[in-house]
Amino acid sequence: MMKRKHLDEISWEDFNNLSLEEKAPYLVQANGRPFHTLFAQQFDREQLDRLCDLATRIRRISKHREGVKFLGDLLCHKRAMLYFSQPSSRTFLSFYAACQILGFRIAEVRDPSISSEMKGESREDSIRTFSSYFDMIIMRSPLQGLAEKMAWLLSNTNRPLPIINAGSGKDQHPTQALLDIYTLVLSFEKRGGLANKHILFCGDLARGRTVRSLALLLTNYSNISMTFAAPDQLQIGKDILEQLDNAGVKYELTSNFKDAIPQADAVYMTRIQDEWDTKPGESSHIDLTQYSFTGDDLKRLPMYSIIMHPLPRRTEIDTACDNDPRAMYWRQMRNGMWIRSALIATNFGRDDEITQYYMKNLK
Ligand code: CP
Repeated sequence: MMKRKHLDEISWEDFNNLSLEEKAPYLVQANGRPFHTLFAQQFDREQLDRLCDLATRIRRISKHREGVKFLGDLLCHKRAMLYFSQPSSRTFLSFYAACQILGFRIAEVRDPSISSEMKGESREDSIRTFSSYFDMIIMRSPLQGLAEKMAWLLSNTNRPLPIINAGSGKDQHPTQALLDIYTLVLSFEKRGGLANKHILFCGDLARGRTVRSLALLLTNYSNISMTFAAPDQLQIGKDILEQLDNAGVKYELTSNFKDAIPQADAVYMTRIQDEWDTKPGESSHIDLTQYSFTGDDLKRLPMYSIIMHPLPRRTEIDTACDNDPRAMYWRQMRNGMWIRSALIATNFGRDDEITQYYMKNLK
């Protein structure tokens, strides 16, 4: 268990200069539960196991009308702000649904051009304004580090409240990584768990924040190995590889995606993230024909393996694969709703009540 430190005891400059591992103890509550959710490295194996178990309990409780009422009463006195200044379908809607499951009242700002940011108000002031009216802020931003800055800033006010990073720049998407882990854990439940599995990542690995966060979260499981398949200019960043080296994870880089498919327990496809092109259309010359998963590739994928994608997709996975039992991307997005419910319930200290209800009524 990480030792509790207080964000209001450290200047922004000093906090910002810490490594992510050093920042992590500032993000937990006195009882060890996560308070802010900012990056993948803050989660350890024990927390991941607890969140996955809780997500399954919430999912099962939600099948029953009485269970839905029980969950919906837990946090009905709380309000959540969803501040998404970057496009989103799944993350926004699954957080929205997760808040509804737990009874939150919800408000949203998705278009800063209709907020007072247009009158010159800084993002920091905007978000501090939300904190006056809400009990939690879930935020997606094109700016790397903004969620961290806000967590620190609000901890130095009289209304500290949980900040959840729902995607920050090209850097991290920690709750996507949580739902990916949950999907992997469920998929390999009857195959000895996630340990010893081989994950094949493919696509724009340089700018895909979901891959970056998931690769780091996977270091919590023993003997995981990874292959990163991408054209040279889209290959995974050295910063991630350094962290995999430090964790003793075996990995391989390749430009030959197709040859790697038969060895994969999970194939994780990603789209080209051309919204980050410095010049519009800059990525369009990259030939991606060998970095898509086709109906023919299903024949070379082992029967027990799974295909994942954070979505949205373009051409990375042929729709001919959609009804194959190994196609996990639809279930993956629904899993996001359950694990995000589990995360929020934990942030607000309702996890034990959910477990007690589950043990009494559904075990
Ligand atoms: N996976 C994901 O982040 O999807 P959205 O961009 O639709 O939220």
